[in-house]
Amino acid sequence: MRKRLRLLALLSLAALATAQTLRDLAAERGIRIGAAVDPSHLNESQYDYTLSREFNQLTAENAMKFEAIHPGIRTYSFNDVDALVTYGEKNQMAVRGHTLVWQNQNPAWLTEGTFTPAERSAILEDHIRTVVGRYAGRVYAWDVVNEAFLDDGKLRSTLWSDAPGIGLTGTGYIEQAFRWARSADPRALLFYNDYNAEGSGAKSDAIFHMVEDFKKRGVPIDGVGLQMHWSTSPSTLASIEANIRRLTDLGVQVQITELDVRVPIDAAGNATAESLATQAQIYRDMVGVCLKFAGCTAIQTWGFTDKYSWIPPVFPGTGAALPWDAAYNAKPAYNAIATALRQSPPVITAAGLANAASYASRAVAPGEIIVLFGPTYGPAALAVSTPGADGKLPTKLSDTRLLFDGMAAPLIYTVLGQVSAIVPFAVAGHTTAQVEYEYRDIRSTPVTVNVTPTMPGIFTLDSSGRGAAAVLDASYRVISNSNPAARGDTVLVFATGAGVTDPAGADGALSLTAPFGKPVAAVSVQIGGEDCTVTYAAGAYGLVAGALQVNVEVSSKVRSGDQPLVLRIGNEYSQSVATIRVK
Ligand code: XIL
Repeated sequence: MRKRLRLLALLSLAALATAQTLRDLAAERGIRIGAAVDPSHLNESQYDYTLSREFNQLTAENAMKFEAIHPGIRTYSFNDVDALVTYGEKNQMAVRGHTLVWQNQNPAWLTEGTFTPAERSAILEDHIRTVVGRYAGRVYAWDVVNEAFLDDGKLRSTLWSDAPGIGLTGTGYIEQAFRWARSADPRALLFYNDYNAEGSGAKSDAIFHMVEDFKKRGVPIDGVGLQMHWSTSPSTLASIEANIRRLTDLGVQVQITELDVRVPIDAAGNATAESLATQAQIYRDMVGVCLKFAGCTAIQTWGFTDKYSWIPPVFPGTGAALPWDAAYNAKPAYNAIATALRQSPPVITAAGLANAASYASRAVAPGEIIVLFGPTYGPAALAVSTPGADGKLPTKLSDTRLLFDGMAAPLIYTVLGQVSAIVPFAVAGHTTAQVEYEYRDIRSTPVTVNVTPTMPGIFTLDSSGRGAAAVLDASYRVISNSNPAARGDTVLVFATGAGVTDPAGADGALSLTAPFGKPVAAVSVQIGGEDCTVTYAAGAYGLVAGALQVNVEVSSKVRSGDQPLVLRIGNEYSQSVATIRVK
């Protein structure tokens, strides 16, 4: 009995260890999951526990707003924000800044004072420089300007725009604010943030056109924040997806900045199970639509517990808008966020697939060692494969797989955003292959890549694909400036992308016993533009099938110095920027 209990205790410990929090899940997605925070609650243990355990980003719900941080014309009040930023650092949470330029929550000295536009401009410049400058390197992103547009797409009249404004017309004041912010902290990401602009409509069109104009003219903007204060009837998912697509296609990030979903509540503040289920689905959809885009980089809720939410006083009769209830119990919305983080498909692109030696990405060849950059779901920690009991590299590593026409490729390493594999030899003869990436059994939509018989790439010493090639001399010493190759020497060049071999390569097998696979296609080498004799071209001892060793004699015609080293296999050439040092 006692033994069984101990076993049970162990099992539940194991369950605890594997239970993934939202921040764990977000880390496998390469996104931030954040919440708006009121520093006065940080010493409440349940608030602190939930916030630091579940989130890896925070922002100030109010503490960074003008009236809070700049209460007198010459007075700044940083204590609350300092506490928040320190809390974020202590808990490895990224800090978002909200907000520098807004029509609301400005101090009376500013709204009621009489200032000329030039004075107002100086006040705003000082504000931005002081606040952004103080937290430079600690606040990674700022909502520089908040809510500048009306629902009809016209610019809102505010103290900053034209009532009386800072002396600039149109979006000029927005541009100026971004420029000041950039110069105060060149590292911070600068966002424009707004509501009712998530899907289609005049307002989201106006924001899109402003960002397009800013990008065209080099105005420093890095992203658009979509607030997402929903009731139970959000914009259609299709329109939100289209809007995120057109924004990220401009090269800016999108972040969901103020997500909450208000539902009807009774006098005691309770919502029906049915509306909480509807709410959960909306949370799930919003996380899911963000995860369709590599450029959607954070999801932040406006608060996290119904105990503290801005909704009930502002939208009477509604509330219960957040993922935790007032007693810090996770609601269906919490599970919906977790499920969406776990189950939304990863995104990959054909352009992200490259030769692991040269980074050429126009096509893949059978047996080519490749790297796929950019998958949006993967292990937070790097895993490097070792051969299994069958002597082959595994086709699954840290829950990652990469499939070519349905065939799982042997893997070399995997980490979120980068996986390296060997193209299965059986793609030979195909003109294209469907590539699918999988993590935790969730598969990407397939992308089509071209298949070519050969795609030679020469490994380089610093893995950059350029400069000194990975070449050994006859006694296995690396060729370098201090050990240059001599004319007449035989050197060993390491490459991949030779295509089909004879005998045929077995996927993932190490070359340990002769005969090593020889490329079926012809292999030739030029050094410094001179043809050199190839004395051996086949698998390399101890390396995986698909890695190629080429022994070549440095021709007597080759000149001294760093000379281009080019490998031709079949009809394809290696990169032109790999070099070998000749004496
Ligand atoms: C809200 C806060 O949550 C409230 O506590 C405060 O009284 C008013 O402002 N859009 C924004 C946020 O950009 O700053 C607002 O925050 C909610 C709407």
